[in-house]
Amino acid sequence: MENVFHGEHDKREVGTMSIQESLRIVPKGDIALLEWDHIGESANKLSTPIMTRFREILDELKQSSYKAVVIISRKKKIFIAGADINEIKNLKSKEDFAQAVSQGQGIMNRIEDLPIPVIAAIHGACVGGGCEMILACDYRIASEDSSTKIGLPETQLGIIPGFGGCVRLPKVVGIQGALDIIMAGKTVPAIKAKKMGLVDKVVHPAILEEQALKMASDIIADGGKKRHKTFKPKGLMNSVLESALGRNIVFKKAREMTLKKTHGHYPAPLVALDVVKNSYGKSRDRALEIECDGFCQVAGGEVSRNLISLFFMMENVKKRNGVDSDVKGHPVNHMAVLGAGTMGGGIAYVAADKGIHVHLKDITTDAINKGFDAARKIWKKKLQRRRLSKYEFTNKMTFITGGLDYAGFRLMDVVVEAIVENMGIKKKVIAETCTHLKEDCIFATNTSSLSVTEMAEAHPKPENFVGMHFFSPVHMMPLVEVIRGEKTGDVATATVYNLSKKMGKIPVVVKDAPGFLVNRLLVPYMMEAAFYLQEGADIKVVDSIFVKKFGMPMGPFELMDSVGLDVCVKVSKIFKESLGERIELPDILLRLETTDRLGQKNGKGFYNYEKGKKTSVDTTIYGVLGLSNPVNILSEEDIIGRAMYNMVNEAALVLLEENVVGSAEDLDLAMIMGTGLAPFRGGLLRWADTIGAEKIVNDLEMYATKYGPRFKPTTPLRNMAKTHRTFY
Ligand SMILES: NC(=O)c1ccc[n+]([C@@H]2O[C@H](COP(=O)([O-])OP(=O)(O)OC[C@H]3O[C@@H](n4cnc5c(N)ncnc54)[C@H](O)[C@@H]3O)[C@@H](O)[C@H]2O)c1
Repeated sequence: MENVFHGEHDKREVGTMSIQESLRIVPKGDIALLEWDHIGESANKLSTPIMTRFREILDELKQSSYKAVVIISRKKKIFIAGADINEIKNLKSKEDFAQAVSQGQGIMNRIEDLPIPVIAAIHGACVGGGCEMILACDYRIASEDSSTKIGLPETQLGIIPGFGGCVRLPKVVGIQGALDIIMAGKTVPAIKAKKMGLVDKVVHPAILEEQALKMASDIIADGGKKRHKTFKPKGLMNSVLESALGRNIVFKKAREMTLKKTHGHYPAPLVALDVVKNSYGKSRDRALEIECDGFCQVAGGEVSRNLISLFFMMENVKKRNGVDSDVKGHPVNHMAVLGAGTMGGGIAYVAADKGIHVHLKDITTDAINKGFDAARKIWKKKLQRRRLSKYEFTNKMTFITGGLDYAGFRLMDVVVEAIVENMGIKKKVIAETCTHLKEDCIFATNTSSLSVTEMAEAHPKPENFVGMHFFSPVHMMPLVEVIRGEKTGDVATATVYNLSKKMGKIPVVVKDAPGFLVNRLLVPYMMEAAFYLQEGADIKVVDSIFVKKFGMPMGPFELMDSVGLDVCVKVSKIFKESLGERIELPDILLRLETTDRLGQKNGKGFYNYEKGKKTSVDTTIYGVLGLSNPVNILSEEDIIGRAMYNMVNEAALVLLEENVVGSAEDLDLAMIMGTGLAPFRGGLLRWADTIGAEKIVNDLEMYATKYGPRFKPTTPLRNMAKTHRTFY
């Protein structure tokens, strides 16, 4: 096979001229400055044509009289973004993977084997293959800019570093540091990289090139030697852990910790661990062979395919504007947030963090101060962890202002309301606020349960009114549901869609319908768990089945506690009203309402809490709800089946009949980003496709006979089963 990386990329490249110019040598006296600026691409990626060009350049350098090489990127915020995932996606057989890996390994070996020292001058993202390239270099200098992030995120795509990362990183930063990065698929900022020994020097971005060239000159003056990679542990403890005995302890602990976290659902980190362990101390060729075998073991597997498809779903969001037309939406530099509570404070923080000027308005100074404090606390933590400089910390705080009146509101590009969940109050506040805004200001509501269409009646221009539903805690949860009311216009939708992206979030456009999308699917799932409890199940056993067996980030009881038990009861009643027999309220839920249990927020729920952290199941809850001690008569299959098939049933309806969401991909993306639903499964519907509509419908029918009409298969799901169709 001539070229294993066949496919789209080759078609995109017009001729070889752009590739020739994308990677070129600029002479700087004795030093070859190797500039990389992939023409026509936003990022430098290790694609097949680039690797071919790299080989040419390295051959040229080998023959040249240069005494050192400095590799530098000309992209604004990217050094090298890694291998081209499009090409990886198109590979099918193990042989294809093996050939692609050895091609990449070959390039890195050539860099390492150049007779002259190679210095990487790193500014911006340096990940995956990019990180593997700097590891093959002799010296590394990085800019201190916050865009500089170095690491090996491959395991997040279900693969492992295959261009020598598993072999070289332990030699540069030691086994502990290497496993920390490789297994978690982590990136580290420049300062941390320096501390670990991953880079030799950190400088201001403005002097990166000058300092890299100076480093090269100094090395030449010092004899121009290559550097042998050998990690020297600091301190007695680290020396012990890097010894043969210590390494075994580190490997064992790393395996245990990963299994505890992933419950065995993610094979890549464990394969990477084996590769690091088995290749350690071997010759370069043998070590790289072991790495290649490990790569082929996981690449192309189901988990990797699912994680790569998730990666592309997120890439698609980057290219989209949230509407079918090509309207741009307004650029947002100034934004007002009404209500500085839990959600408003979080929204203000996330926007200000991304450089948007935010004005918080509330009805009391106390509330505004709380909003400020919430943001300050998060930045303070980042400052303490050296993720922010003191300057950045002070500067970010200036992006939030606050007040009790509408001063400055005419400047606003967008207003987001996050006040109390009450239609009457919201409508009054919207109408009042609109009298202080410029005509084309977009108004967004963060309501979690009220109708956006009805709320828009309070706005003089309902086409400028839209839903922008964040999830709590705002700074952690990536999803924003962009809700189109009946009259919401394309400009409002595109503005809020793009604003969500600017805030670092993943937006998914949904139609205005009860519970929108994510909550609509989550409520039946939580209700089902309450039925299990009523039928004698143990809270801990149920939660553990969903976490360990299915791969949810938390079980339904922990989820209900974190949402708030009062909120769960209120929302489920609203759902009952709008969804009829498809929602049934278990008696214990109504009994919960008569207790003082609100969940995590008052430290009393299904679980006990200490300083806001979950400790153990509060076993008194069984008695409080009039239940006897749990007996666990339900099978694991039924516990997962009843709740998850319920969700799939509702999903078929919202996707195929009600058109609440545009595609199966969008539905899956929303569920993964909004609830953390098992990313390794690729989403709810991708998982459902592995089971098949026929089995799901059969089981739902059986459950409907046994437990009631809430399980009745919906028409679209029935049709899918009849015609043997899948969601994808
Ligand atoms: N808490 C969640 O998990 C969550 C998640 C998604 C959406 N939401 C929605 O976000 C909104 C806010 O929820 P929250 O949990 O932040 O509530 P919260 O009670 O923490 O905060 C509401 C804030 O609004 C202020 N406020 C009330 N009337 C106001 C007015 N006229 N003008 C300005 N400020 C006013 C209050 O003083 C308070 O500070 C609600 O619509 C809720 O449904 C909440």
